[in-house]
Amino acid sequence: MTADSHIHPSGTSPVIRLESVQKSFSLPNGERFDAVRSLSLDIHAGDIFGLIGKSGAGKSTLLRLVNLLERPDAGRVIVGGRDLTTLSRRELRDIRQSLGMIFQQFNLIQNATVEDNVAFPLKIHGRHSRADIQARVRECLKLVGLEEKIHSYPAQLSGGQKQRVAIARALAPRPQVLLCDEPTSALDSETTRELLQTLRDINRKIGVTIVIVTHELSVVEALCRRVAILEHGELIEQFDVDAPASNRLTALGREIDALVRRRERDVRDAGHTHVAASSAGAPVVFPVSDMPHRAGSQGVAYA
Ligand SMILES: Nc1ncnc2c1ncn2[C@@H]1O[C@H](COP(=O)(O)OP(=O)(O)O)[C@@H](O)[C@H]1O
Ligand SMILES: [Mg+2]
Repeated sequence: MTADSHIHPSGTSPVIRLESVQKSFSLPNGERFDAVRSLSLDIHAGDIFGLIGKSGAGKSTLLRLVNLLERPDAGRVIVGGRDLTTLSRRELRDIRQSLGMIFQQFNLIQNATVEDNVAFPLKIHGRHSRADIQARVRECLKLVGLEEKIHSYPAQLSGGQKQRVAIARALAPRPQVLLCDEPTSALDSETTRELLQTLRDINRKIGVTIVIVTHELSVVEALCRRVAILEHGELIEQFDVDAPASNRLTALGREIDALVRRRERDVRDAGHTHVAASSAGAPVVFPVSDMPHRAGSQGVAYA
């Protein structure tokens, strides 16, 4: 397996290191079910890292191990050089400020405004002045392009807008890492593309490390720099998404390779054609003469 031999080009130590983490759950019949099996993984600062696998593979459990929402039965969870499994409750609460999280179903407070939702993690932490909180809330809403919705309630927002509020809330305490559990699975494809663009912008602008759990290969192809593939709680393989084709160990790995190769081929074959920027899925290639009709005034079209 190639998993442990990966040396990051930056030569930096990982921001997240999982060392032989293990998690099992008791089943109603009294048996134990191994959701994550002796899994080791490094994630480097600034990366966009995808965790992919079928439903039930252990992706969400693995993500929740990173911020110790699930405590491992064995192994170590090291974030920023500190082993979270050894910390007191108070220390853990502090370090969780550096681990923002978003979910498929957004998990916003329904009877609070956008402003109060985003302010929430700053208020419960209690170390910020009112003026600081207000300024930070505006800053985060600006990052996700939602300043004008500051006084709205979640019910007045679209799914994509709700997820942006959730991102702003997660970013408010200036985390090093943003953990995303199926963040686009409740969104249509157009909204998914926009949200992935927002995540990419945030990664570039503020350097936050993104770990994203998804079952959508197109999300990995469009967003991630590196991907790890889980099956039955085990990490089977991991690789750089843009790496040359290789003998992948899993069907999912081969499918990701195929998506990347298709994008590269489309770009290469474009010739006199215009190639739209790849966002989610492979880019659409169409003759320049078709552009005004296909792409409108933007000159860009997507699959
Ligand atoms: N709290 C729990 N109690 C019992 N079983 C659980 C619990 N959480 C997850 N599981 C089981 O662990 C396996 C992995 O779950 P999960 O991490 O949610 O998978 P994924 O996110 O890849 O779909 C599933 O079979 C699930 O039913
Ligand atoms: Mg899940």
